[in-house]
Amino acid sequence: MTLEAATHQATLPDAAKSPLVHPLWVRVTHWINALAMLVMIGSGWQIYDASPLFSFLQFPRQIALGQWLAGALLWHFAAMWLLVINGIVYVTLGILTGRFRRKLFPIHPREVVSDFLAAMRGKLSHDDLTVYNAVQRLLYVGVILAGIVIMLSGISIWKPVQFWWLTAIFGGYDAARYVHFFAMTAIVGFLTVHVVLACIVPKSLRAMIVGR
Ligand code: HEM
Repeated sequence: MTLEAATHQATLPDAAKSPLVHPLWVRVTHWINALAMLVMIGSGWQIYDASPLFSFLQFPRQIALGQWLAGALLWHFAAMWLLVINGIVYVTLGILTGRFRRKLFPIHPREVVSDFLAAMRGKLSHDDLTVYNAVQRLLYVGVILAGIVIMLSGISIWKPVQFWWLTAIFGGYDAARYVHFFAMTAIVGFLTVHVVLACIVPKSLRAMIVGR
């Protein structure tokens, strides 16, 4: 780079130097979703403990939210509205702006396998944050679907009389509880990998905060 070009680059405002990776609506809905999800998961574990589905599984009180069943239900129902409204805004804008089509599709199984193997060998490039690799695409589409399933199964165990048809689709109240539990497990699994990867590639975390 010539001295003139370097001087020009240095005097450019940040906005002109790096492309916008995540528009404001993605960042705001992402962090609201992260907060709401953590409250839903923590309070959900406390609610689960009041009537466990598996005899071998209880969540320690230290990592559950709400202290007891009634307290946890208050947290769960409060964060539920935040999660549902925010989720509807994110998915609607994702479809209408074309972001989902551009950034999450297409997903080719062969690319998923090759990107996964490259990631395992530490050879996956993170130079261009504007493009998601095939594994990211699959995981993001997967967690969005898990989010939809957890909301629908949640509604069907919250109001099984009013939404009897929805509860019936899941195979009844008890089956809907299992679906709700396994969707939570999938989201917690995603979140564990997702947060580790965000820490390994800190510039992706920066982009999800400041946009660039
Ligand atoms: C609380 C901890 C979280 C952290 C630190 C975090 C971090 C990040 C980062 C850094 C990105 C951008 C990845 C990139 O540009 O390569 C991202 C995107 C994304 N995250 Fe998270 N995240 C968190 C929670 C969640 C939760 C709870 C969910 C859903 C259950 C989620 C779903 C997503 C999705 C779907 C995207 C893609 C968004 C888009 O491009 O439209 N994240 N996250």
